[in-house]
Amino acid sequence: MSIPIAAESVAFVYPDGTRALDGIDLHVAEGERVAIVGQNGSGKSTLVRQLNGLLRPTEGRVLVDGRDAAQLHVAQLAARVGLAFQNPDRQIFAGRVRAEVAFGPRNLGRSGDAVDRAVDEALDAVGLSGTADANPYDLGYSRRKLLAIASILAMQTPVVILDEPTTGQDARGVARVRAIIERLSTEGRTVITISHDMRFVAETARRVVVMREGRILLDGTPGEVFGEANWPALASTYLEPTLPARVGARLGLDGTATEAALVEALQARRG
Ligand SMILES: Nc1ncnc2c1ncn2[C@@H]1O[C@H](COP(=O)(O)OP(=O)(O)OP(=O)(O)O)[C@@H](O)[C@H]1O
Ligand SMILES: [Mg+2]
Repeated sequence: MSIPIAAESVAFVYPDGTRALDGIDLHVAEGERVAIVGQNGSGKSTLVRQLNGLLRPTEGRVLVDGRDAAQLHVAQLAARVGLAFQNPDRQIFAGRVRAEVAFGPRNLGRSGDAVDRAVDEALDAVGLSGTADANPYDLGYSRRKLLAIASILAMQTPVVILDEPTTGQDARGVARVRAIIERLSTEGRTVITISHDMRFVAETARRVVVMREGRILLDGTPGEVFGEANWPALASTYLEPTLPARVGARLGLDGTATEAALVEALQARRG
């Protein structure tokens, strides 16, 4: 299996001297569905910004499709790795929703028809088809967030990274984000999601990477990472295990990070 994204011994220091990443080793295989979690300031956003070349490592290296990202231009990286920003207002710049979403694919050199199709699909996926002619700043925060996601979807990159996609979303918005992740995954694309919502993480990711103070603390399946043995480690980066994991542990069950896993484990016990 190919490794579209790898960080090897990556450290990153901001110009003001903040050491935001330290000794990060992360290999993400093609088609993986990974969540990155950890307390505020643990380095999640800084890490994903290394992966699409927005920031370059101070030490170590990032590999994209096996090639040292330092040798690739931002445009080459943009065609491979799409990153929807945590703060949509740092991403959005166009005066119309449609123009915003069309910018990426057009910039990648796609033809008019292909751009139109990609834009329609992306707006549909986030539920913004009806506001294609609106000014992005007339949309509320949650919809600007979905717009930032649509702009990345339209680029149809093999790797999609979503930085806190569910922040500010109601249940319908969360369901949309979940459906987007499922669909990307079904298409064989690699999806990396940063989230503070442990239930969402357990239910959407197959692998969970926990960060603390610029380092990777835990890396495993949701069942492993939220398992009782890791509760002290999770608490050290201000994360709580999921409710099914806590209930499951009291019942002596393992690997029950999701409701579905808990139900399955209970049914298996009943025989
Ligand atoms: N532009 C910047 N200049 C200096 N320091 C920064 C900058 N951006 C982030 N930092 C610092 O780098 C560290 C990691 O920040 P980062 O935003 O990557 O964390 P995060 O895990 O994404 O946090 P959050 O959950 O709040 O989004 C923090 O100490 C933060 O204050
Ligand atoms: Mg962040």
